[in-house]
Amino acid sequence: MLRPFDEEFLLHQRMEAPVLSPRASSCYTPIQDMESKVLLKNLLSANDYPAQYERFAASIVYALTYGFRIVTGEEWQIKTAHEVLENFTYAAQVGAWIVDALPILNHLPAPLAPWKKQAERWYQIEERLHLANLKDALERDGWNWSKDFKNSKEAQKLSDIEISYDLGILCDAGVETTAVTLQIFTLACIAYPGWIPKAQKELDSVADEDRLPTFEDIGKLPYIQAVIEENFRWRHLAPSGIPHATIQDDYYKGFLLPKGSTIIPLFLAMRQDAKLFDSPLEFRPERWLYKSQPSNWGYGRRVCPGRFIAKNSVAIAIARLLWAFNIKSKDGKRPVVDENMFSTGFVSVPKRFDVVFEPRSENRRRIIEQKLESADKDIVNLLQEVRRRQVAVGLVPRA
Ligand code: HEM
Repeated sequence: MLRPFDEEFLLHQRMEAPVLSPRASSCYTPIQDMESKVLLKNLLSANDYPAQYERFAASIVYALTYGFRIVTGEEWQIKTAHEVLENFTYAAQVGAWIVDALPILNHLPAPLAPWKKQAERWYQIEERLHLANLKDALERDGWNWSKDFKNSKEAQKLSDIEISYDLGILCDAGVETTAVTLQIFTLACIAYPGWIPKAQKELDSVADEDRLPTFEDIGKLPYIQAVIEENFRWRHLAPSGIPHATIQDDYYKGFLLPKGSTIIPLFLAMRQDAKLFDSPLEFRPERWLYKSQPSNWGYGRRVCPGRFIAKNSVAIAIARLLWAFNIKSKDGKRPVVDENMFSTGFVSVPKRFDVVFEPRSENRRRIIEQKLESADKDIVNLLQEVRRRQVAVGLVPRA
């Protein structure tokens, strides 16, 4: 069970809110700018795009949370985080253990309740990781979320384990989600390539061969924004939803849902509802050009708090990938996208398909290499710049 929504939850939320607000999130773009340049450069020589997307996503959240970059994806923190995530993904499946259906079984003594031993073992791994990350982050130079949280007034009421879990969970929640969203984008490029020339034409109208598109450009590119929205709609990364609980008695179509009922929102059904979306299985950015945007980030009090950061990461990556590359399937065929193409379980990941990232021109290849060479990759400098921006927009960093 995830933490219920109560006073204690609100305390954690209040500690996290200042670094996740839209204004704070808009200050993180120097890091997203640099990491997206690294992503392009790495894709010039390696087409292991799932690993590259993961490195990109992880490096952004680890820099913000703990003040260090993920350079290879082989760092021990990432390997352990994978293990933690696998355990979580298993445990988060509704009905993973019989106790999910019959909570009374939790009163059984440990030898008769094997899930308790399993949970304890998994907890130890996660606790060690989060506490080590917090300790290291507090000793690093420059601003980061660990220092910011630790100096908050809410932290005075929380133990180091609780603070380290808040930080660790933000990291866990921010990596796979962003990386899988980019994998879904890549699948859309090869399965429904018809929209790409229009997107590239729009990009080329603001960013010519000699410069990469920027965050400022994206605000002026309605078609690219529509591509991003369609990417979120086309395939939801958690198609079978994330369980919520009602906080009071409620009625749905005349049925009583008593307080505390588990509600499983089927994101897949909502995003592929033919009454709302014409030909919902097709990737069609056009549908967003004249339509307001419904939330893709969950709902109610548990809506994704990282959505402003995530949207910026995904937007800059998509704009630059389309500017830089022709993205094609290796065998030249368009895959048929159906449910068999995705893993089952809590997070639905596209199965591996072979893709070629071909630079759109030699000049673009050169620009990718040059831009990265001249970029400031020193994370302490970038985090100080993030802090400076926060002060400039009227925020008061706590560290
Ligand atoms: C493209 C990337 C992302 C997508 C598509 C996404 C989507 C979601 C969705 C659908 C939920 C569930 C909301 C609900 O239960 O109603 C969620 C929860 C959450 N997300 Fe994200 N997310 C992304 C990136 C991030 C990032 C970058 C962070 C943090 C830096 C983050 C932090 C969280 C947290 C902490 C929760 C749990 C909230 C709670 O239970 O109160 N997410 N996200």
